[in-house]
Amino acid sequence: SALDAVYQELILKHYRSSRFRGELDAPDAVIPMRNPVCGDDILLQVRVDDDRIAEIRFSGHGCAISQAAASMMSEHAVGKSWDEVRGISDRFREMIHGDETASRDKKLGDMRALAGVAKLPRRVKCAMLAWDALDEAEKKIRSGEPES
Ligand code: FES
Ligand code: FES
Repeated sequence: SALDAVYQELILKHYRSSRFRGELDAPDAVIPMRNPVCGDDILLQVRVDDDRIAEIRFSGHGCAISQAAASMMSEHAVGKSWDEVRGISDRFREMIHGDETASRDKKLGDMRALAGVAKLPRRVKCAMLAWDALDEAEKKIRSGEPES
C-alpha cells in the first residue's frame, strides 16, 4: 500500500543517514550491545545533564531495522528524562506486540513504521537492540560507575 511505501522510505532514510550516528567526546556511558540472533552489534554512547539525556550517538553494524531503530530511538530520547524514555520504549514494545492503543499514539508515529516490520519474532530483537542498550546506559549511569 501507499502507507507501506511511506514507511519503507522512512526506515531507509534513518538507515542511510542518521544525524545520531557517531561518537561523543565525553560520554557518561558507552554500551556495546550485541544481537545474539545474528551477531550484529551497536555501540551506544550517552551523555546526561541534570538527569536528562543531553547527547546520544550510536555506531556499529546491523540490518536496516536495527539501524533505523537506533536512529529513531536517539531522536526520541534526546532531551528526555529516564522515566520519559522508559515510557516510550514500553509503548514501542507494546506496538510491536500489536497493541492498538500504542499504535494510535501520534507522538510515536515514526516508530509505527518499524513496529510493523518488526513483528516477526526474529526481528523483535533487531528493533529493540538500541532500546536495550539505552536501558543498560541508564543502569550504568545510575550505578555511579564512571566511564573510563
Ligand atoms: Fe516482546 Fe521483547 S519486545 S519479548
Ligand atoms: Fe542483525 Fe537485525 S539482523 S540486528
